[in-house]
Amino acid sequence: MAHSIARATLGLTKPAQIDPLKISFAAKEVDVVEWKGDILAVGVTEKDMGKDDNSKFQNSILKKLDAQLGGLLSEASSEEDFTGKPGQSTVIRLPGIGSKRVGLIGLGQSASRAGDFRSLGESVAAAAKAAQASNVAVVLASSDGLSDESKLTAASAVASGTVLGTFEDNRYRSESKKPVSLKSVDIIGLGTGPELEKKLKYAEHVSSAVIFGRELVNSPANVLTPAVLAEEASKVASMYSDVLSATILDIEKCKELKMGSYLGVAAASANLPHFIHLCYKPPGGSAKIKLALVGKGLTFDSGGYNIKTGPGCLIENMKYDMGGAAAVLGAAKAIGQIKPPGVEVHFIVAACENMISGTGMRPGDIITAANGKTIEVNNTDAEGRLTLADALIYACNQGVDKVIDLATLTGACVVALGPSVAGAFTPSDDLANEVMAASQVSGEKIWRMPLEESYWEMMKSGVADMVNTGGRQGGAITAALFLKQYVDEKVQWMHIDIAGPVWSEKMRSATGFGISTMVEWVLKNSC
Ligand code: BES
Ligand code: MN
Ligand code: ZN
Repeated sequence: MAHSIARATLGLTKPAQIDPLKISFAAKEVDVVEWKGDILAVGVTEKDMGKDDNSKFQNSILKKLDAQLGGLLSEASSEEDFTGKPGQSTVIRLPGIGSKRVGLIGLGQSASRAGDFRSLGESVAAAAKAAQASNVAVVLASSDGLSDESKLTAASAVASGTVLGTFEDNRYRSESKKPVSLKSVDIIGLGTGPELEKKLKYAEHVSSAVIFGRELVNSPANVLTPAVLAEEASKVASMYSDVLSATILDIEKCKELKMGSYLGVAAASANLPHFIHLCYKPPGGSAKIKLALVGKGLTFDSGGYNIKTGPGCLIENMKYDMGGAAAVLGAAKAIGQIKPPGVEVHFIVAACENMISGTGMRPGDIITAANGKTIEVNNTDAEGRLTLADALIYACNQGVDKVIDLATLTGACVVALGPSVAGAFTPSDDLANEVMAASQVSGEKIWRMPLEESYWEMMKSGVADMVNTGGRQGGAITAALFLKQYVDEKVQWMHIDIAGPVWSEKMRSATGFGISTMVEWVLKNSC
């Protein structure tokens, strides 16, 4: 184990400390023609682009802008073939109004869901980056149809979409890129007042947490070792020490707690395991409900002796196998800032690395989890569930009412649901409803999957209590059934497989998936 420090500096890479971009958001009621700044971005649906018999816009905002611009907006938008389709956007430099430019951003047939407004924010960010704008305003061409509640959701989703859309991870580049110039965003026409201000503040907290989560996942495994992940977690706790506390269990402590399943996975690595436990207690008042969030924290997954080989095995991507941990620690950072009353939350990660060496676990070994259950390891690449087993037992021992685990657990889940949708497994309809409602607000896509008990047959061992992998069929389900063995029956539990949405090929970056839904869920449980 003398290697651990050498390993931590492997490659001599040190990420640059880059100050996070600070964008300020304000809700305003001003005339779009009068607003002064770099870009006035208008979110338009295909319907909003409709014209009357005289080829004039029917939509009142577009009509007003077009009149002020002497018909140039209408002309330019048809020249650019802008029809309001989702993802379409065009920025036109036009003299004649307060703003230097007008941006038209397509919302598709209609915009009503959080995801639509998040995308609008992302397009606003892209337009601001391209034009090197400092001040931007966002307005919906038609917001009359939205309820007050939807307006709040829309405003905060636009804000978080804008922050996340401007995000660039430049910590590992040797040349510093020109920083994004966006400073302020005015949100027009979605109301004003303390409730909206509160929502915008909340969106800022959540998006800074999502960025933190993305940075954790983007960090390579030679930099982000289990020890470094634990250090990052401790930093979060000390930043919000009024409500958060950190406990890091070292390998000796984990042995005392008999976490044989977790330690089996960690055994091959020169980088020591670190078991992370942050606890949120609400300011002043006592908690009526106790929750736990458990994240898979494999800082790298080589597969172990069942090494990941061949094209498509994605071994080169396996730094993101701690995406569940990043979601949990990101949620901790947001909760530490928001400080919801009436709820206690435990954030738990059994961090380690799945490597190959003479001290490592062999296929066929039998290991014993903290609850005494024995596992025949028929595949060392099904390691996530082994670490989660001991983490779930530990979580239940905290006396929590509900626990959700997030994990990049199976390739099978990606085969089933594709790269952008997470799979949720739970025996509890109540918990399923809570999380689905939370995901409606966050705009993250989560689909409930069956916990088909009859498939447990595949997990039976000839010598131990269970094996760790079933067959090829229903691989995401058998993984979930395995986890269920380690959850107290009195505790409501959900497993979310985020193997697909943890990463975006398009952005070549981590997404921070799970953070916003988990924060929303915690708030739903707060009172
Ligand atoms: N970390 C992987 C799952 C994974 C695969 C995440 C691809 C993201 C993208 C996990 O530890 C794993 O290796 N799972 C195996 C399970 C199998 C051995 C039963 C898998 O999915 O192939
Ligand atoms: Mn694996
Ligand atoms: Zn893994």
